[in-house]
Amino acid sequence: MIRLEKISKAFGSTVVLRELDLTIERGKTTVILGPSGTGKSVLLKHIIGLLQPDAGRVYLDGEDITNLRGRAREPLMHRFGFVFQHSALFDSMNVFDNLAFGLRENHLCATAEIPARVARELQRVELSGIEEKMPAELSGGMQKRVGLARATILEPEIILYDEPTTGLDPQTTVHINRLIVRAKEALGSTVVIVTHDVQSAMEMADTIAFLADGGIVAAASPAALCGNPEPRLQAFLNARGDVCAHLPHKLEHVGPGAPADR
Ligand SMILES: Nc1ncnc2c1ncn2[C@@H]1O[C@H](COP(=O)(O)OP(=O)(O)O)[C@@H](O)[C@H]1O
Ligand SMILES: [Mg+2]
Repeated sequence: MIRLEKISKAFGSTVVLRELDLTIERGKTTVILGPSGTGKSVLLKHIIGLLQPDAGRVYLDGEDITNLRGRAREPLMHRFGFVFQHSALFDSMNVFDNLAFGLRENHLCATAEIPARVARELQRVELSGIEEKMPAELSGGMQKRVGLARATILEPEIILYDEPTTGLDPQTTVHINRLIVRAKEALGSTVVIVTHDVQSAMEMADTIAFLADGGIVAAASPAALCGNPEPRLQAFLNARGDVCAHLPHKLEHVGPGAPADR
């Protein structure tokens, strides 16, 4: 669905991406894994066009979108949803207006339908009834969940998450991961997750793409990745304990009422 071909990007003398190749399959969850500061967020920004490469091409459904800007890019942006590292809620708006914002901006539904859409989305992240709360009144985990809901309410084809669980405690991390899987199943979307959290990557991914030294040095299923001897990959995995010896089960089937939920 998305193909990055020989993407290179430098900021001044700092080379971040070097002829990076990556393929993202439709309907799958692709996790971009790597240490902090390796260029994961920069890579994500190339996919959505917030950054342009110095060289290389970005394709969406076979169409070259590398240099589409401004109005030419708009129809394409509606296909993407993003959840940024910091939930990036509008502090001066209550939860209802945060969720309604994108619907109103893009005229996605009649005004009368907005409250029901907001309520449904809050239910999906298990936060029913908090429409009137301000972001500052919410815990970090709750803010993340509202951030998730604000992206999924637009029902995008492709959802990109930048470090969705960074800074959260383990229990909240599992909860957020389950909500991400639930939203994917409900919307049938393609999911791209950027993270340095190996455990989450293993639980979520159909494919893990490991980023090191400006390129994807390994891309495979979690089990296959563990068997890949690439030294930078193995060093990173081993630093996180014996995660490969106890491969976590893939999170699946987490619709409302699933017994394993929460
Ligand atoms: N807009 C920018 N201007 C200059 N340098 C940047 C910019 N964005 C990112 N970088 C640099 O690119 C490198 C990779 O950053 P980033 O993609 O945020 O890493 P990660 O998300 O993997 O932690 C870092 O060295 C960072 O300082
Ligand atoms: Mg980052």
